[in-house]
Amino acid sequence: MRIVLLGTPGSGKGTQASLLRERLGLAHISTGELLRDAVRRQTELGLQAKAYMDAGELVPDALVLGLLEARLGESDVGNGFILDGYPRNAAQAEALDQLLARIGQPIDRAVALTVNEGEVVERLTRRAVEEGRSDDSEDVIRNRMRVYAEQTAPVAAHFEATGHLREVDGMGSVDEVSQRLLDALDDG
Ligand code: AP5
Repeated sequence: MRIVLLGTPGSGKGTQASLLRERLGLAHISTGELLRDAVRRQTELGLQAKAYMDAGELVPDALVLGLLEARLGESDVGNGFILDGYPRNAAQAEALDQLLARIGQPIDRAVALTVNEGEVVERLTRRAVEEGRSDDSEDVIRNRMRVYAEQTAPVAAHFEATGHLREVDGMGSVDEVSQRLLDALDDG
């Protein structure tokens, strides 16, 4: 199964993708994680991406697409995958369709996790204290939410038009959300 997870920063995409990886044996592909890894390793791409990430802006499409294409070529992807954090704008949605058509692995389901803004701010502020992620400061969280509303939220319409979209309530415990997500994936 090939799944796209959509949702605001802090909606639980990473948490739920990692549970799906364990339960369904799918590869978890997080463009945010791929980028943070490139920043940690100080690769050329990481050096270019860092300023965008620290500001809560999208990293240029061409850089992210290259990373994604390389990741999709890895051996664990054969059983299917969960895309977490991609696509994030209309151009990325187009590029994804083209790339997956070329490798013969089209998307089966897109799931949008919905969480209210107060909960998002609470979760990310807690993570800032616990993990110290550099883009979890108050002003950058606000910018990530703005970028999401302006550029990423419209991507849901792309998957709605193709009939792949399901909405899942992302409020409540991790286990509750996980069960709803599995139900939505079962719902043919
Ligand atoms: P990315 O890493 O994708 O960050 P994000 O979308 O802002 O997502 P988060 O990791 O903040 O949230 P999440 O929805 O995954 O929630 P999580 O499970 O972690 O991107 C970071 C940056 O990289 C972007 O700003 C951009 O610069 C760049 N980038 C990435 N992809 C890109 C792309 N395609 N194009 C261009 N640029 C790109 O949960 C959040 C917290 O809440 C955690 O602490 C978790 O433990 C907790 N939590 C989760 N679920 C629950 C629950 N049910 N109850 C209570 N707490 C919960």
